[in-house]
Amino acid sequence: MNRINPDGQNNIASMRKAAQACAHRHLFHMMPPQGWTNDPNGFVYYSGSYHLFYQHNPYAAQFGIIHWGHAKSADLVRWEPLPVALAPDQPYDAGGCFSGSSVVHNGKLYVFYTGNDKDSIQTQCLAISEDGLHFQKYENNPVIAAPPEAVKPTQFRDPCVFRRGERFYMVVGAENKGCRGQVIVYISDDLLNWSYLNTITAGDDTLGYMWECPNLFFQDDRAVLILSPQGITGYPQFNSSHDSGYFVGHFDEATGAFTHGGFHKLDPGFDFYAPQIAANIPDRSVITAWMSTWETPAPTSAHHWAGSMILPREVRVKGDRLLFAPVREIEKYLKPVIAVGAVSGGELPPLEAAAGRLRVSAENKDFTIRLFCSADGREYTEISYSADICAINLDLSHSGEAARGTRSVTLEYAPDILDIYLDRSSVEVFINGGEYVMTARVFPHQGSSGIRILGEAVFQNVSLWGFAVHP
Ligand code: FRU
Repeated sequence: MNRINPDGQNNIASMRKAAQACAHRHLFHMMPPQGWTNDPNGFVYYSGSYHLFYQHNPYAAQFGIIHWGHAKSADLVRWEPLPVALAPDQPYDAGGCFSGSSVVHNGKLYVFYTGNDKDSIQTQCLAISEDGLHFQKYENNPVIAAPPEAVKPTQFRDPCVFRRGERFYMVVGAENKGCRGQVIVYISDDLLNWSYLNTITAGDDTLGYMWECPNLFFQDDRAVLILSPQGITGYPQFNSSHDSGYFVGHFDEATGAFTHGGFHKLDPGFDFYAPQIAANIPDRSVITAWMSTWETPAPTSAHHWAGSMILPREVRVKGDRLLFAPVREIEKYLKPVIAVGAVSGGELPPLEAAAGRLRVSAENKDFTIRLFCSADGREYTEISYSADICAINLDLSHSGEAARGTRSVTLEYAPDILDIYLDRSSVEVFINGGEYVMTARVFPHQGSSGIRILGEAVFQNVSLWGFAVHP
């Protein structure tokens, strides 16, 4: 069947119309045409396009009947919506087609996902596509019908499949019966038959109870394990019950053991969860993530859509840390509005369509930048620097609808360049060449598009680019 329910089509058409008219729709971030999204899934380069699937409820702008939504892109910036790829139409996935990943093999696209049945029993399942558009669920699903004895069968999900040499590996997130997170690894020669290899690593009581959405990727001689732990308590900087981080280490392909250093936060902003590295891109590691968390408000639900993805980032491993840069393809869409030399305070021209990039090179003094400002100055999203503690703060307490508090990150050295990407209802701040990125959804009221610089700092350079839909 593999189709969304035809009875829902009218509803979908009217939801879609309302969603498209919403002032918070992005220009360069992937979002559902209508309805809900949470995690990105199956991110892959296949047959000349980037494909991004996503956890999707097509019928309502809230979590519910979870399908795999589907979009594709030529350049990771502009996304074209495609028909739903997977619908929950089998007993083993009747409670939702949960998160997973893609592998390209013999010209076909293999997508692995978690079948969540009506009792929330979770198994790992496969669907195959020969054209990147139509997906056939494998007749012998599930390919992994039960976790090892130590793992809860209702907390066993989000397969990430990759190839090393002649073998395929699948890492799966889990909660064990001692209420700790762990990642399990399976191996296969043909993507159809899987055998258990090991627990690659497991958490202690500081690292939450369930590890969602594991991703293992490789760069040079390092392996990086990305995780989204639930209920993390013991790590400073992890200030939400859903957050994402990573370990850098080494993966032993023979035993399936992963040895690693400390756990680092991925994004010290507000809204970044369930990240995933794209498969099958030969020359770079590209990450995307849900630009939200389970705690993020979603006022766009009133307009029949909710959730979006970050601007994909290129990831580089440096020592035991990751560095991030926005995908280079964004450059061709950015058109200069102004470029000025030394600036100390003042108002910049508002960005047409409230989308583009602000770049400032700062000096080591306190400064404040206000974005999405209303004409009366009462509404704004604020980025500030506290020189005495070398911290960048992202303050959403005056950001409009569903305003929130402040998040901060302490830097190792004073900020030099800040690259701030704005897209109508999002802000992504790249600090010091991508050593840190702070991401948030904001919901400014209509007309709040001013940009102001305050404080005593002198910026050596300030430049502003608008986003051109047709470069
Ligand atoms: C993470 C998550 C996954 C699960 C999916 C369900 O946000 O809870 O673990 O597969 O969302 O939509």
